[in-house]
Amino acid sequence: MCKHDYPLEPYKIKSIERIQKLSREQREKALIISGYNVFSIPSEKVFIDLLTDSGTSAMSDSQWAGIMTGDESYAGSRNFYHFKKTVQDIFGFKHVIPTHQGRAAERILFEVTTHQGDFVPNNIHFDTTRANLEVRGVLCEDLVQEKAYDPEADILFKGDMDINKLEQFIDEKRPENIPFVMVTITNNSGGGQPVSMGNIKDVSQICRKQKIPFYIDACRFAENAYFIKKYESGYSHKSIHEIVKEMFSYADGATMSAKKDALVNIGGFLAVNDDELALKLKNNLIISEGFATYGGLAGRDMEAISRGLKEVIEQDYLEHRIGQVGYLWGLLKKAGIPLYAPSGGHAVYLLADQFLPHIPRNEYPAWSLTIALYREGGIRTVGIGGMMFGKKDSKTGQEIFPKLELVRLAIPRRVYTQSHLNFIADTVIQTYKKRRDIKGFRIVYQAPYLRHFTARMEEINLTNS
Ligand SMILES: Cc1ncc(COP(=O)(O)O)c(C=O)c1O
Repeated sequence: MCKHDYPLEPYKIKSIERIQKLSREQREKALIISGYNVFSIPSEKVFIDLLTDSGTSAMSDSQWAGIMTGDESYAGSRNFYHFKKTVQDIFGFKHVIPTHQGRAAERILFEVTTHQGDFVPNNIHFDTTRANLEVRGVLCEDLVQEKAYDPEADILFKGDMDINKLEQFIDEKRPENIPFVMVTITNNSGGGQPVSMGNIKDVSQICRKQKIPFYIDACRFAENAYFIKKYESGYSHKSIHEIVKEMFSYADGATMSAKKDALVNIGGFLAVNDDELALKLKNNLIISEGFATYGGLAGRDMEAISRGLKEVIEQDYLEHRIGQVGYLWGLLKKAGIPLYAPSGGHAVYLLADQFLPHIPRNEYPAWSLTIALYREGGIRTVGIGGMMFGKKDSKTGQEIFPKLELVRLAIPRRVYTQSHLNFIADTVIQTYKKRRDIKGFRIVYQAPYLRHFTARMEEINLTNS
């Protein structure tokens, strides 16, 4: 193996999907039609799609074979029982509630457990978590350790929650106003950084002492467990499965988007221990998602999830997966590109405000960079910054921006090869060389929630500024 390589793919390719790079003119036209929003560009006009690692995994032959064993009975599908047993075996929770994706699990949990004026802390709320809480009048607080906001602090377990801040927060807001505490593993909105077992244990202890339920946003649980095995003292000899079991033993439940670490294209679940709560959640599920043994999923989907959950905790898969992300991060670092450090679990994050220091925050540098990367190489990425999380101050009407202005290059699981990663690195480096020509953007249309998905934007030229 040469110096910059990463562990070999523990699989070979059986089926392929054609991709093609449009000409520069065709890409420019696609941008205009989309209103300069990469979410509105048809995927066939994208060469390398790094928009998300969610629902974009390549399934295995075993998962595809599982699809053919789908039992599509309305009630009591055999695939549900396999799914339930797999989730119980891996995570250790008593009740397993299938949902069509992660945000449905969030919505159901929040509708049953929260009220207007409640407070919910997280290390950093992911956008769907935050939106599903805020739409109910719940106040969201991000309590990740301060170093997470220092993109250059190259420390382990940067996704850890600040325990002192959590204690102070509970003291101030009072436990009765906090329906639960949540921790997101890995911390997607903070560089995809892992959370240590020690931190999960500490949060759990505080919650148990204060009688506040503790939930884990489990989307990337296997990637988080891999970091614990590799870097946290006392875990190197344990299997990923043992580490996962221990992580969730400290929680009262979890919401899961199976579109990440269950290696499927659709699906999710909610898992809890409390019998009474499970009943309420299932009643909500039946009204909104479907009967308790399918919850918005087909039997075949539940089968693919069960098989994916077993594959995702394999050591050689995780070594390759995290190795790929580290490889791309290393190529960009070597070229002097401003990056969030250290390399995380599922994505490489560019520091858009340092990449484009001439673009002020109110002209959305992360947005500009996503457009520039599509222009340069047909690569689709996502801005995680002012457009995603910025909001108006109710008193001054001024826009308040989040601390980090990032562009995420999410790596789909088992999809791209080393040559693709090399091409991505070259495109970013070329874009960096041309950075002074990149312009800011202004909003033409925005929705009241999750505005980045549907916004229409206009490039700020001297002539229209
Ligand atoms: C940390 C985190 N939580 C929740 C979700 C929501 O999951 P879904 O897209 O399946 O609704 C995501 C999706 O990207 C996520 O990254």
